[in-house]
Amino acid sequence: MTKPQPAIFQENSTKFYSLEYSLDLSLPLATLKSAISKSLSNTSSVSIVIAFGKQAWNKLQPDWQPESLIDFEALQGVDGYSIPSTQRDLFFWIHSENHDDNLDCVLKVQQALAGVAKLQLELPGFTYHDSRDLTGFVDGSANPKGGDQQLAALIPAGQPGEGGSYILTQKWLHDLASFNQLPQDQQEKIIGRTKPDSIELEGDAMPADSHVSRTDVKVDGRAMKIYRRSAPYGSATEQGLYFLSFACEIKRFSIQLERMFGTTDDGLHDRLIEYSTPLTSSYWFAPSQQDLDDLLH
Ligand code: HEM
Repeated sequence: MTKPQPAIFQENSTKFYSLEYSLDLSLPLATLKSAISKSLSNTSSVSIVIAFGKQAWNKLQPDWQPESLIDFEALQGVDGYSIPSTQRDLFFWIHSENHDDNLDCVLKVQQALAGVAKLQLELPGFTYHDSRDLTGFVDGSANPKGGDQQLAALIPAGQPGEGGSYILTQKWLHDLASFNQLPQDQQEKIIGRTKPDSIELEGDAMPADSHVSRTDVKVDGRAMKIYRRSAPYGSATEQGLYFLSFACEIKRFSIQLERMFGTTDDGLHDRLIEYSTPLTSSYWFAPSQQDLDDLLH
């Protein structure tokens, strides 16, 4: 199997920085490639993943595209809930144990892309206590471990883009004041796990509209596993989660989102969306290291 970008699976980091850019796709290919190459040079003090939206990929690599890459399309859910599309062209996920190293890298990327790309979103994130979301619940408990991470995240050998990965990013804004007012047992029914120790609710105790029930999906008996690397962001005035996940096929994301927003057969929506709102959404393709090197050289 062609090797993935190694930073996808680097799990020691506690500080994160996400950058989303739109690219000036009318510029000559050589200009775009040289700016992107420059943005990735001298970044060894951090882990960095670069990924492309569909239009940017098609411009930069006209010879082939990964089979299921699409632009994110807005989703109108039930009960007035919806997801906007803010599809962009270029995504950088920078992470390490130090905010200062991350910022040095961010400044290099920004400088390298001056004149070819416009910054549309920048968001520093961090590990909150023992890997909790700002709602206070552990985020990542059911994430695949060991070799199952690669199975969930990477396009399998033999397919176009093998060793690459599809990414969904979404900036979610929490209404913490409302969520925190709920008694703990109500919060646990919304998530589908206990709050102190993240034990999954069982049997009748697990509501069909909990977050876990909506996202733990099987299709034809196959678990639609994804590899989540989300991180909280927050300040005095705005708090939430930058949802970031890798998968071997885009369908895994779209099925989970449809179940969260009630557009599947049972029409139930995920109770979590009553307390948090997606403000942005993009699909990306993170090519394997070899395909990235071929693209840029
Ligand atoms: C506000 C946004 C979100 C928050 C705060 C959040 C939080 C959580 C928490 C606390 C858990 C339980 C612990 C764990 O297994 O990680 C969880 C599970 C999970 N979430 Fe989310 N999540 C969010 C959005 C999403 C979205 C948008 C997706 C999919 C597109 C998603 C997919 C999953 C999956 C697949 C699981 C594991 C289900 C299982 O197999 O048990 N989450 N999430």
